[in-house]
Amino acid sequence: MDFKLGEEHEMLRQSVRDFAEGELAPGVADRDENEYFDRSVFDKMGELGLTGIPFEEKYGGAGMDYLAYAIAVEELGRVDPSAADTLSAHVSLGAWPILAFGTEEQKSKYLIPLAEGTKLGAFGLTEAGAGSDAIAMTCKADLDGESYVLNGRKIFITNAGAADTYVVFARTGPKELRSKAFSAFIVEKGTPGFSFGKFEKKMGLRGTQNCDLVFEDCRIPKENLLGKEGEGFKISMQTLDGGRIGIAAQSVGIAQGAFELARDYAKQRVQFGKPISALQAIQFKLADMALEIKASRLLTYNAAWKKSQNMDFGIDAAMAKLKASETANKVANQAVQIHGGYGYTREYPVERIMRDAKITEIYEGTSEIQRVVISNSILR
Ligand code: CAA
Repeated sequence: MDFKLGEEHEMLRQSVRDFAEGELAPGVADRDENEYFDRSVFDKMGELGLTGIPFEEKYGGAGMDYLAYAIAVEELGRVDPSAADTLSAHVSLGAWPILAFGTEEQKSKYLIPLAEGTKLGAFGLTEAGAGSDAIAMTCKADLDGESYVLNGRKIFITNAGAADTYVVFARTGPKELRSKAFSAFIVEKGTPGFSFGKFEKKMGLRGTQNCDLVFEDCRIPKENLLGKEGEGFKISMQTLDGGRIGIAAQSVGIAQGAFELARDYAKQRVQFGKPISALQAIQFKLADMALEIKASRLLTYNAAWKKSQNMDFGIDAAMAKLKASETANKVANQAVQIHGGYGYTREYPVERIMRDAKITEIYEGTSEIQRVVISNSILR
């Protein structure tokens, strides 16, 4: 067992950190304030090779592993949680299912531009009546000649509107088939009958874009079925297993960023004649924050490593996502506390970070759903 990261991983961490601090940090407050998704942020991530980190070079990727991917998402999350989310939704949810379940034609047409970062990806599972209960989806796809006709609506979809390629889940069979009643499809932006609904006004991650996907008699060529008919639910669940590593990594980054700001502030904020970092109340907070971050990072890297080794990693990903997202929220909350009244103002970044952190306990499976997944595996 070796807990030391190799040179390749350390170099990647440094280059993503340089990019995040140099190119993302200057605009992060503005993108939050103006609720602005800046496509050029994604384009730059593509130029750096981040959009295809875990994919083979023959598919336009960097040929690295999921640990490298987790490190990159963590470093983005440390500075700009929205950029981390854009990348995570793109790689884990938009591109990975095409790698895992696509035909060579689909990989060549859709995966390569996603991995190279010339196209942006998204994932359409959630519906108004099907959030945690994903199997309750009502969006349907009826086979008609050489195409499927898609009707229904997806909500809260990350990268939607801006994204070019969507992996969408819809019912293709009767209710009695339960989980086998769904299929996955690759849908291109611009397909007639495919439009976008309202953009969400969110508490945090306001540098990302989320909106509804609307399908009205939208014809999708038969060859855009991803995997086999009836495999859609399984594809969605396996995709989310991997996606949870991305959210865990984003959460570790959010916590690390908040921790560093709190530590630096505590060292320079003087009260009672000395920096507040000299007070044990603050020292113990910082110690607990550092401990929680380390535990979360180890769980996250462990899940990413297992995925790279083709080992079962679903439960590890659920544990990492649960622990890291709760850590991000606790640490961001304490970072605001250490900043006192200043931390509650928009002049200090911990205010935004606390808002950005909240969603990590909700999306890609709430903390409650992670506990369902973990406890099911314990009691099976
Ligand atoms: N991998 C492969 N197969 C899986 C699986 C997995 N991880 N999890 C479940 N399955 C299979 C089961 O084996 C079962 O197969 P059979 O029917 O052949 O027996 C089938 O799927 C149904 O499984 P369950 O009976 O466990 O299904 P369930 O209805 O009880 O729900 C759940 C399971 C874990 C609660 C699931 O619904 C779930 O994960 N819900 C959360 C959904 C979620 O994370 N949504 C996030 C949306 S994406 C997002 O947030 C990003 C964004 O853009 C904002």
